[in-house]
Amino acid sequence: MKRMLSGIKPTGQLHLGNYIGALRHFVDYQDEYEMYAFIANLHCITVPQDPVELQKNLRDCVALYLACGLDPAKATVFLQTDVPAHAQLGYIMCCHTYMGELNRMTQFKDKQAKGEKNLSGGLYTYPALMAADILLYDPDYVPVGDDQKQHVEITRDVAERMNHRYGELFKIPEPLVAKVGARIMSLSDPSKKMSKSDETNKGCIYLLDPLKTARKKVMGAVTDSYANVHFDPENQPGVSNLMQILSSLSNDRPIGEIEQEFQGKGYGEFKRAVADAVCARLEQIQARYDEIITSDMIATTLSDGARRASLLANAKLEKVQKAIGMEIIA
Ligand code: AMP
Ligand code: TRP
Repeated sequence: MKRMLSGIKPTGQLHLGNYIGALRHFVDYQDEYEMYAFIANLHCITVPQDPVELQKNLRDCVALYLACGLDPAKATVFLQTDVPAHAQLGYIMCCHTYMGELNRMTQFKDKQAKGEKNLSGGLYTYPALMAADILLYDPDYVPVGDDQKQHVEITRDVAERMNHRYGELFKIPEPLVAKVGARIMSLSDPSKKMSKSDETNKGCIYLLDPLKTARKKVMGAVTDSYANVHFDPENQPGVSNLMQILSSLSNDRPIGEIEQEFQGKGYGEFKRAVADAVCARLEQIQARYDEIITSDMIATTLSDGARRASLLANAKLEKVQKAIGMEIIA
């Protein structure tokens, strides 16, 4: 069975972009692949966090993984810090990643370009830790949204470099980025991606938003004056974004079919269909979330997940340390 691994940062609440770009694929793939899905709580502290809020987000993140359909009997769901090998191999990867490579990463570059002050060293070296997250498990594929493709590519480069230097240590993973939905845009500004750091709170639909709020956000989404439900991300980014959301939430229904259905119809009717699809999915997720958050499922899932993940991760860390010559072998 081929293996897959992916993670999400518990920074703020999970949103529809995380669900469509990443989480729903974890769920789809869990029958066909050996799936490892973790909560990246080391990555999230690369930017300042409020401790009380972070704790709540961690629980919510695990609960939402399960509420969206990840089944702990099939997938290994775990917390990054429960497997200390992530931080340990992360340091080793950091020592094998060039500053020139890190300088090219858009995530850090963007924040720097915006003039944000006091960016942390952890944010800069983040891709090396992400490489460790991946390479500890030898996955065949890493399902991610579009913005993370670059990080999987640097992972491949560093893995190849180390394989060349020390002998075969790592499998070279492939990023898996869906054709539709890999970059869901903000509803209030379709030139930006939907993200947890949405200041207006109008552009981002959180998975735990009350249904009324979610509906309002869809109905208020920025569109254009063409009055034509047509897929053209360049000239009609708002409408095209809503079409991607609708397609993703209706079993990847072809975009062409959606165009046909709404031919000659107004944006009001189209948005109502999108809002219905969004609310139906949120309702399902939230009902499961309510059951999970009050049960002991979070604790049992994480302890079982940490045990299973550690088996692979510890063996890989030891192999790497030995190959580098860092261990005293009797
Ligand atoms: P993050 O919230 O940055 O930890 O992202 C977790 C996963 O969700 C990654 O695979 C991202 O690529 C994906 N993701 C985040 N935002 C979006 C978005 N607006 N559209 C599609 N995928 C996204
Ligand atoms: N960097 C990813 C994000 O911001 C989260 C992440 C951390 C991840 N480690 C990973 C994703 C390993 C895939 C594989 O979305």
